Amino acid sequence: MHRRTFVKTAAGAGLGALVASRSSFAADAEVVLSPGTPGPVINPHVYGHFIEHLGGVIYDGIWVGRDSRIPNVDGIRRQFVDDMKRIGAPNLRWPGGCFADGYHWRDGIGPAEKRPRTYNFWEPRMPEGVRATETNHFGFHEFMRLCRLVGAEPYVAANVGSGTPKEFHDWVLYANAPPGTVTLAEERETNGAREPFAVRYWGVGNESWGCGGNMTGGEYATEYRKFVTQVPEYTRPYLVAAGPRGHSADMDLGWTEGFFEGLQGHHARVDGFALHYYTDFRQTPEDGARFDEKGWYAVLHKGLRIDAIIEDHWRLMGRYDPEHHTKYVIDEWGNWYRGGTELGPAYLLSQAITLRDALHTALTFDVFNRHAEKIEMANVAQTINCLHSLFAAVEDRYARTAVYHAFELYRPHMGARSVPLRTDVPDLSVPLLEGSGKIPGLSGSASVKDRRLTVTLTNPSLDAALTVRVRADGGGRVAEGRGRVLTHDDMTATNTFDDPDNVTLADLEVAVSGDSARVTIPARAVVALDLRVG
Ligand code: AHR
Repeated sequence: MHRRTFVKTAAGAGLGALVASRSSFAADAEVVLSPGTPGPVINPHVYGHFIEHLGGVIYDGIWVGRDSRIPNVDGIRRQFVDDMKRIGAPNLRWPGGCFADGYHWRDGIGPAEKRPRTYNFWEPRMPEGVRATETNHFGFHEFMRLCRLVGAEPYVAANVGSGTPKEFHDWVLYANAPPGTVTLAEERETNGAREPFAVRYWGVGNESWGCGGNMTGGEYATEYRKFVTQVPEYTRPYLVAAGPRGHSADMDLGWTEGFFEGLQGHHARVDGFALHYYTDFRQTPEDGARFDEKGWYAVLHKGLRIDAIIEDHWRLMGRYDPEHHTKYVIDEWGNWYRGGTELGPAYLLSQAITLRDALHTALTFDVFNRHAEKIEMANVAQTINCLHSLFAAVEDRYARTAVYHAFELYRPHMGARSVPLRTDVPDLSVPLLEGSGKIPGLSGSASVKDRRLTVTLTNPSLDAALTVRVRADGGGRVAEGRGRVLTHDDMTATNTFDDPDNVTLADLEVAVSGDSARVTIPARAVVALDLRVG
């Protein structure tokens, strides 16, 4: 059993007394915010997305085809578009993932019936008798249509592993050259898009240490230099280099060192560096649906490791780039279980999503918010029918997962200025799959926009609620407070096609007095408070 140790200790008793003495509120714990000294802006792109030609992500998940009986807009699942708009999805990364380094963009343009059928990287991983042949019916124009419908900025992952600098060069030109200039702009117009797509974010390969070419950091640096040196400058591309495999036991610091070392003495702009971090349980018995308290805490504990990974790689990057021109683009993150809970045989890497994944999402976003100055963008892997998904869709059945609701809760942080947050809640000692460990008894982050403070707080405990007094230092008055909570009695609670609202948001009572607000955060819950400060 884990213990919320402060309840039993003298220090804990002291904290309770302290909290009670400062206001009429009695509380177990105190959270202090400093809205008077706001930090950097949280880039809206931190709340971004990733979709790949993999299993049921694109085909069926997003692309149902123009003639489908499933409601669609130009072949794109309408419900998906509506929900992505509802959470203000800021970007979409596409076409992979590992698929990207086998993808040749010209296969996906022009009349659909003339497009070739091509090989998909995921073919050998498909179950016996199920094919992954790529029809190319969802290509570059369809992707751009999806982005425009959602209002999301495109982030294209280009092919380094089996592509060439020319192929990359031409894709950027096709996307961004003004009308009436180069021949590729004319071809784009012939294919229905006179105006440039103005794609700003370009990934130069994906996981180049693995499926993107099996290179060392140094070898990739050489490729990277070749790929970016001649890139057309229309729309001033934001160039993202493939970064480390953060979920390696050693965090893969060697990749970062090898890559930046390989750039020394050369001119090659690196705007973004694509750190990947999967909370990786593939080698354990852990699956997405069935787990006990050890599994609950193990996932949250391992998820929090992203904090140290961000810190350690940043420190190393600072040796080469002391002013930190290069920011993180954490373009794949999420939980990855052993498998066995797929939506169906063809829905490769799909997995059951529970309340546990929603709390993991919240803890991850709090870490990202607290590192706002370092992160340009992050992309959950992957948005629909995959690992850490917000949606499940099989033909005409559709559900929003618990992770979707975490995105909903955190939406007000997008584009707000981060606010320092302190809490003196002690760590929890928790059981893990092997042994035990500690996690914060309360995690959170805060931001401010237009005199409205957003405070997100996660109580990871499976058995103890926590009454928290939230105070703005510097004498600010809390004039009004509202709250929402995501929780469930059952830690394994999930949303299914038959019960799509099993895990959903509810209102949470917030009491306001003077400089404080008070809330009771249930066990296993994440809350978002909206406080108006006077
Ligand atoms: O998201 C699934 C896969 O995980 C991606 O294709 C790859 O980049 C990563 O290894």
